[in-house]
Amino acid sequence: MPEPIQPTPIAETGEPQASQLAMPVWLLVLMFLLLYWGMVYFDQHSGWFNTEVYVPYYSLAEVQEFQPPTGGVDLQRGKALFDNVCALCHNPDGMGKPGQAPPFVGSEWVVGPPSRLIRIPLVGLTGPVSVKGQVFTFAASMPPMGASFSNDDLAAVLSYMRQSWGNKAPPVTSDEVKAVRAQIGNRAQPWTPQELMQIPAK
Ligand code: HEC
Repeated sequence: MPEPIQPTPIAETGEPQASQLAMPVWLLVLMFLLLYWGMVYFDQHSGWFNTEVYVPYYSLAEVQEFQPPTGGVDLQRGKALFDNVCALCHNPDGMGKPGQAPPFVGSEWVVGPPSRLIRIPLVGLTGPVSVKGQVFTFAASMPPMGASFSNDDLAAVLSYMRQSWGNKAPPVTSDEVKAVRAQIGNRAQPWTPQELMQIPAK
């Protein structure tokens, strides 16, 4: 039979007392310095996280360097204008609406030559129009929904359409819109798709 374990007797020296001894100031200072150094080190070495996941940006300019090129157009504004105006018929997800308007997703009109695309919102379009091999016929043609937009705004909307929903085409610039406006003059009659195809791609 094993011997029962006996508690080691502790010498009783009276009741324990809380002491008033102050913590040395140098220890306090050292603690804060270490803490500060740790923070700086962590920050500068990305905390040993994978730098592809955790890459700290130090300024807005640095973040913007990593954004896809927009050619100086404001895609946020483009989206807002699209949602307010074009989406009424073409739907916010660019899929079009049955009986109202054709889709933009993968549309050769949207990702195709800017010289043709820019003309559509400026004076409108009258179908039937073929998009991705499907012919659409609508009761009403497209009104000149973008005629009142500034050059910057129209460039922003069209660039947004060219870079959304899986579309990948270079942005349309404000200067391109300006040039097309000058070529059109004061034409008010909507284009037909056949007419647009006559416009040189560049
Ligand atoms: C009142 C409804 C309506 C609105 C709003 C509208 N569209 Fe359209 N859009 C149409 C219709 C209808 C067609 C097809 C023309 C036809 O068949 O007569 C069309 C066709 C198009 C096409 C070519 C076809 C395609 O699917 O790619 C483009 C590009 C286009 N619209 C751009 C725009 C832009 C940009 C705006 C906003 C500034 C806009 N539309 C607002 C009705 C509309």
